[in-house]
Amino acid sequence: MKDVVLVVGSSGQIGTELVIELRKIYGNSNVVASDIRPSSEKIIESGPFEELDVLNEKRLREIIKKYKVSQVYLLAALLSANAEKNIEFGWRLNIRSHSNVLDLIKDGLVKKVFWPSSIAVFGLTTPKQNTPQYTIMEPNTVYGISKQTGERWNEYYFNKFNSDIRSLRYPGLIGWRAKAGGGTTDYAVNIFHEAIQKEKYECFLKNDTILPMMYMPDAIRATIEIMEAPAEKVKIRSSYNLAGISFTPKELAEEIKTYIPNFKISYNPDFRQEIANSWPQSIDDSCAQKDWGWKLNYTLEKMSFDMIKNLKENN
Ligand code: SER
Repeated sequence: MKDVVLVVGSSGQIGTELVIELRKIYGNSNVVASDIRPSSEKIIESGPFEELDVLNEKRLREIIKKYKVSQVYLLAALLSANAEKNIEFGWRLNIRSHSNVLDLIKDGLVKKVFWPSSIAVFGLTTPKQNTPQYTIMEPNTVYGISKQTGERWNEYYFNKFNSDIRSLRYPGLIGWRAKAGGGTTDYAVNIFHEAIQKEKYECFLKNDTILPMMYMPDAIRATIEIMEAPAEKVKIRSSYNLAGISFTPKELAEEIKTYIPNFKISYNPDFRQEIANSWPQSIDDSCAQKDWGWKLNYTLEKMSFDMIKNLKENN
């Protein structure tokens, strides 16, 4: 029997793309999309969709039973910038959604869980270049603290209850199907939209702010690969570093100019600059490569080409 998969947060930046890929693998009717907001037409029309506030544990359990769900991908969260503006809700949503889902697996209702962590688990005292898998972690944002807490719980549930939870520390994610969702790395998505529509963009980070990023097709593939890997290959149960590609707003703007020569960028840093300054500039993901065979595909050049092509074709 094929697994039935529940994606919580199917209207967000990752969920919008992940549901489509999972439906190709598991079959449309075996991937249940859910979100507090309506998802894209493509998602609602191609398979089941349930309205769900993941903080409502009773409703979550009803959906699990109704569809006999065996795997959950939990993507609902308040990202770094939004969580700073709404501290209590950010903390509650990020922590309680996770504990509600972890209890599903502890109680034997589902077999496997995916939960994303982030480069936000690192902080000012972390080595910034080639940040190792195991290093100093002193996050100083609501989002980063919630992700660090979540990682500890992942490992605890694995050790204590043998719960099969898998996790990746995503870099900033860049995709064309959905808008960015309130994070510090959003500029790298917004810049493409505005370059195409207005040939100009005002960036909320300084020109030389290096951050690790990843193109969505790589992020979706990494997510599905770690979930499909044999359990014994998933040796790290907190969360795996993922490197992606590191660049500055200036470098990205230069790349965009090769396709849109009149494109102009200006800089007006806001509160997100401080968040960016506390995060790594590049990541060492050799553990993911060694343990379950992770390999990056998209470079900055390849990603920019594909983003611009898709945004032009689909707008
Ligand atoms: N991209 C996220 C953010 O900026 C980090 O995980 O909040």
